[in-house]
Amino acid sequence: MGKMIITGGNSGIGYQAAKQLVQKGWQVTLFCRNEERAKTACQKISAETGSQQVDYILADLSDMASVRAAATVYLENHGSLDVLINNAADFDLSVKKPVLTRDGLEKQFATNVLAPYLLSELLMLALENADDGRILNISSKGLAVFPKISLDFNNLNSEKTYSPTKTYYQNKLALLMLSLYQREKYPNVSIQAIRVPNVKLDISRYPNLSPLMKTVYKLKSLLSISAEEMAEVYTALASEPGFDGFLYDEHCREIRANSSAYDKAGQERLCCILDKLIQL
Ligand SMILES: NC(=O)c1ccc[n+]([C@@H]2O[C@H](COP(=O)([O-])OP(=O)(O)OC[C@H]3O[C@@H](n4cnc5c(N)ncnc54)[C@H](OP(=O)(O)O)[C@@H]3O)[C@@H](O)[C@H]2O)c1
Repeated sequence: MGKMIITGGNSGIGYQAAKQLVQKGWQVTLFCRNEERAKTACQKISAETGSQQVDYILADLSDMASVRAAATVYLENHGSLDVLINNAADFDLSVKKPVLTRDGLEKQFATNVLAPYLLSELLMLALENADDGRILNISSKGLAVFPKISLDFNNLNSEKTYSPTKTYYQNKLALLMLSLYQREKYPNVSIQAIRVPNVKLDISRYPNLSPLMKTVYKLKSLLSISAEEMAEVYTALASEPGFDGFLYDEHCREIRANSSAYDKAGQERLCCILDKLIQL
């Protein structure tokens, strides 16, 4: 078994995947922004698996300096890496206006697009040196509701308009596009994506949601699968052979992404912009 990083591994699907992979004998490092939540998650995983092969590094993924520092600490502490799972995401419906990071970036875009891109670029050499290096980027089934969606290059950083939902789906489309671009650029690393459907959320994590939205989430949870069940797909794609495709659903079946994700000129344009931004 090898070494793995999972971002946002302190809650939800990321936590369950980290636990399953530790159970299977992997050394798992959680990249988390909150020390207390990270410590608690590591202690729970150790207690539930009987293994000490889990640790954490603090990383605020909305802050590119923090992402760089965390990657450096990881490489100093662990030396090698087999799998990176870019799982964390920022999606809070109670946020009504764009929040700017200290780099001057809109926070959802920074967390959901730029951070996974920067992290994978910083760790790519380690992944290329692994026997079977893999990256998993986490997408959303909600994108299927917008089959004709395309990336709005004029609003990547919410320059024109902002809504947390629209921004989230634009971010998830961008993540698919950068993954497809990196697949061609780095053929020695397996770069794939997972499409997550409705998965039960811990509503207590969103105290600022309106009562109406809390009710909507409760109703949605009746149609949702559990985080444990979804994590099994992460675990399979991270650790088992036989998955050569790009995008997989909750049944580990290969599916097609939105057609605009395959536009090579768009992928290149996006990654050119991201390359400039990570030089901030
Ligand atoms: N749940 C669903 O129905 C659903 C549907 C489609 C796609 N997905 C995708 O599935 C993935 C996992 O979602 P989930 O349902 O497991 O959500 P979750 O329980 O809310 O987990 C999100 C994780 O991301 C972390 N995170 C957010 N912003 C961060 C930042 N700036 N720096 C570091 N960590 C940060 C959170 O940390 P904190 O604990 O510190 O907040 C948390 O650990 C996400 O990519 C999500 O978009 C989920």
